[in-house]
Amino acid sequence: MSICQYRSEMINNNNEDDECREIKLVKHLGHSLPEVGSLSDLIRELNKLFESDNVNVDLVHYVMKTYKSNPVEWKKFAKFDRFRYTRNLVDNGNGKYNLMLLCWGEGQGSGIHDHANSHCFMKMLQGSLEEIRFAWPEKEESELGEIGRTRLNLNEVCYINDSLGLHRVENVSSYDTAISLHLYCPPYDRCTVFNQKNGKKTSSTVTFYSMFGKKNKEIEAPIPEDN
Ligand SMILES: [Fe+2]
Repeated sequence: MSICQYRSEMINNNNEDDECREIKLVKHLGHSLPEVGSLSDLIRELNKLFESDNVNVDLVHYVMKTYKSNPVEWKKFAKFDRFRYTRNLVDNGNGKYNLMLLCWGEGQGSGIHDHANSHCFMKMLQGSLEEIRFAWPEKEESELGEIGRTRLNLNEVCYINDSLGLHRVENVSSYDTAISLHLYCPPYDRCTVFNQKNGKKTSSTVTFYSMFGKKNKEIEAPIPEDN
């Protein structure tokens, strides 16, 4: 289990544009921002950021956003399943975070889930996804209320943690697949999935369809999980 502390001053402020955030970040850090020209650069920068026990979540968001998707760099991790979306591990961040590709077939989506007290960053590498956000149920057996809906397009990044609510992610296209890059810190292997109609909770184990480009043979009938 990671012993990292995570701090963020800006990430939850959606009113700021990217340029404004970057200026604030440079001021705060007192030095220029890292350059991320490739997936290898991104992984190297993330490894560096997580060497510290005090991780700047805004900087994690910045490096994820700055990477420009290049299919040549990530295609070996992109493995689809005809029945459901897949989670494919790219890097385990020395136990401090998990970086993974999620591959969404046409019309595939997740259940409504929480993030087990972790931070979740989701960046589009191909296609687009719809993120539907819900408030935590106010009482037992109450319907979950939708609080927002965002379309995430190529190279955009969205961020969520449990204090911001629950979400479901969906590839609404009936003719295009979608691929997203996710970072979870600290990593987790269980989350909670919710029934929208009655708020009923189910604990769910999260699994990998492939790890480091190799398909995990043990996974034949994956169960619903997070994303
Ligand atoms: Fe999620």
